[in-house]
Amino acid sequence: MVTYRSTMVERIDLPSRETRERRLEEAGYNVFNLAAADVFVDLLTDSGTGTMSNDQWAALIRGDESYAGSRSFERLESAVEDVMGFPRVVPAHQGRGAENVLYGTLLEEGDVVLNNTHFDTTRAHVANQGADPVDCPVDAAFDLESAGADAGAGTGADSETDSHEFAGNFSLERARSVVDDAGEGAVSVVIQTITNNSAAGQPVSVENTRRVRRFADEIDATFVIDACRFAENAAFVRERENEFSDASIDEIAREQLGYADAVVMSGKKDGLANIGGFVATTDRDLLAECKQRAILYEGFPTYGGMAGRDMEAMAVGLREAVEDAYATDRIEQVRTFGRLLEDAGVPIYTPVGGHAVYLDAAAALPHVPSAEFPGQALVCELYREGGVRGVELGSFAFPDTDRPELVRLALPRRTYHRDHLEHVAETARTVLEKREAVSGLELASEPSIPELRHFTAELRPVSR
Ligand SMILES: Cc1ncc(COP(=O)(O)O)c(C=O)c1O
Repeated sequence: MVTYRSTMVERIDLPSRETRERRLEEAGYNVFNLAAADVFVDLLTDSGTGTMSNDQWAALIRGDESYAGSRSFERLESAVEDVMGFPRVVPAHQGRGAENVLYGTLLEEGDVVLNNTHFDTTRAHVANQGADPVDCPVDAAFDLESAGADAGAGTGADSETDSHEFAGNFSLERARSVVDDAGEGAVSVVIQTITNNSAAGQPVSVENTRRVRRFADEIDATFVIDACRFAENAAFVRERENEFSDASIDEIAREQLGYADAVVMSGKKDGLANIGGFVATTDRDLLAECKQRAILYEGFPTYGGMAGRDMEAMAVGLREAVEDAYATDRIEQVRTFGRLLEDAGVPIYTPVGGHAVYLDAAAALPHVPSAEFPGQALVCELYREGGVRGVELGSFAFPDTDRPELVRLALPRRTYHRDHLEHVAETARTVLEKREAVSGLELASEPSIPELRHFTAELRPVSR
């Protein structure tokens, strides 16, 4: 049951089919090029797109815009300490700004960095320092077919026959083999991303975090948690890891984050804010160095790229994100969305993760070969049929990898209602009923950086 009501609303319109057809063509069959006003249900991302509470809006008024030592910064630091257990914070304009501050400080050319799965901006920042980002997901992470078979309460253990209840876990076995190949001392940083966005938003157990802490100690590496969705992760831990079945969301969050040397955060997710991020650490030397880099790239360390009012909104948002009712409802809404899609006969990744439902485009459009981007074809059909915007995360977004052909439908926080979710499920059902008429796509123009092509490339239907 949701424990809030809407006291402000925003009008949305479903453009006519004819308009949607035209807009899609004008956008070069890339929904990033659509105007938001032409989208009916926008599930492009959960990042910065959520609805703020009236308490957050009220807090904006308190914004202290002093360059140094503002009260807004103090309130942000207190919130981060109370909720996440880290007393010192370096703000940044958003998550990738925080990544630049932290990884620019920690990494040197030639270092190896391990992560359960690098999110794309994380990978880019690691590579930008001349370091080598290596993913260490468990086998269950990309196992779309058998996933969900054994979901349920458990221990959070991470043997390599890992259960699917924590498919976001970090594989120690993979990590050890990288260390064996790279040699002693090569791995300087170990990152755990909770939940694991690039692996369908799957959760990470606290037990896995403890093991990664011990592993980082063994190899003398710094242990960083990418905490963007720490509250959603804690909600899964409470459901699935027996030890925590009676714990509150914030107790779990502090327990899990407390194993890290530093956390890097995008406040646009579980900060429930539209902008902002930070680095937090207990290591005084690291903190001092991060502050220096923050001055260079973000701003003075007591605002670091954020307006005082935005720090206020995030301080309140962090406290709201760990309210038990909010966090439980959040993952429940995503799960309900998954059920609606399954009932409509849409193949999805199960169990459903924390912030999005991922559609299996290869199964949905089996006649479209990988070279013709089945995920992007599905994204375009969802828009054409129902004004729904999702994002392709398969062969179009990740060229030359063996990633599955996924389409992500991310739910902005506290924004859409069951009616919207039913509309999306019905839209997907109709697309699948007419699947034979859906054609693949080919590239019409491509930007110079292939890793970023899905943002701006244009496509056209393959003609037969
Ligand atoms: C796991 C993860 N890390 C880092 C980021 C980057 O955060 P931002 O978009 O605020 O720059 C994101 C954004 O989606 C993310 O999901």
